[in-house]
Amino acid sequence: MAPDALAAGAATDDLAAIADAFTRTAAKYDAFAEDHPHLSRMRQKVYATIERFVPAGAWVLELNAGTGTDAVQLAQRGFRVHATDIAPGMLARIRDKVARDGLDGRVSVQECSYLQLDGVEGGPFDAVISDLGGLNCTADLGRVARGVERVLVPGGTVVAVVMPPVCLWELALVFTGQFRLAMRRLSRGGTRAHLEGRWFTVHYYTPRQVLAAFGPDYERLTVEGLAVLTPTAESKDLAKRHPGIYRTLARLDDGVCRHAPFSRWGDFFVVVLRRRLSATETVAP
Ligand SMILES: C[S@@+](CC[C@H](N)C(=O)[O-])C[C@H]1O[C@@H](n2cnc3c(N)ncnc32)[C@H](O)[C@@H]1O
Repeated sequence: MAPDALAAGAATDDLAAIADAFTRTAAKYDAFAEDHPHLSRMRQKVYATIERFVPAGAWVLELNAGTGTDAVQLAQRGFRVHATDIAPGMLARIRDKVARDGLDGRVSVQECSYLQLDGVEGGPFDAVISDLGGLNCTADLGRVARGVERVLVPGGTVVAVVMPPVCLWELALVFTGQFRLAMRRLSRGGTRAHLEGRWFTVHYYTPRQVLAAFGPDYERLTVEGLAVLTPTAESKDLAKRHPGIYRTLARLDDGVCRHAPFSRWGDFFVVVLRRRLSATETVAP
């Protein structure tokens, strides 16, 4: 997500503004991802995590699927994906990719908010995923979690990639005088973001807040920082201009990302939860 101006703001979801902003930016969103080795590395790490915790061939509900980069990748890796989003322009790009790659039988597409999962078609699903900060567009993670409960099989997996308040690369911008950008994740009640002429609030969450939203019916399988020591996904340049430095940072990043406090920091963190089989299932110590 690339807000180009920031201001303190309200804590409600601005669904129409979000849908419109992402519709307007859909083509740019895909263009920005081209020739972006750092973003590709970040996505590959997410796919590795999904393949580690979600059984091969599983039926996956993708929330905030964007332009369908992950839906296509996961389908090509053998999963069946129901891709949902609220931005018609993003959904149109998924449909184009599905047709282009002949994935009709493996990817279905639906305009659906993750705040209204009772309207989702199909299911119950073996896994629910949300990549690259889509869940940061809501102030009400609890409502998402309650919706997921309705569409996820007991024993199913949730993989969420969420932007946390602490991002070392952004905090370091203090030293360049960009105080507002450096501190934006720390403001209470979210940060107003401006995208394609539309304003909406972005909410930064800790892993603990995500776990609390899903509650005791879910077991935590892992929490890992994503791009903790490497730059944010917004940065294309370092990996391309200084590949040696980037490779070193990436190695260090891989080394620390599963260890606290780094697991809670980064441009994003990846949290994997498993829905318990029943309320009586033993809670892991
Ligand atoms: C930063 S993009 C991430 C897209 C995609 N997951 C990816 O990895 O490229 C955020 C997406 O969240 C979607 N989104 C925001 N609020 C939503 C909601 N309430 N329900 C469904 N999608 C939503 C936006 O339309 C946008 O496509």
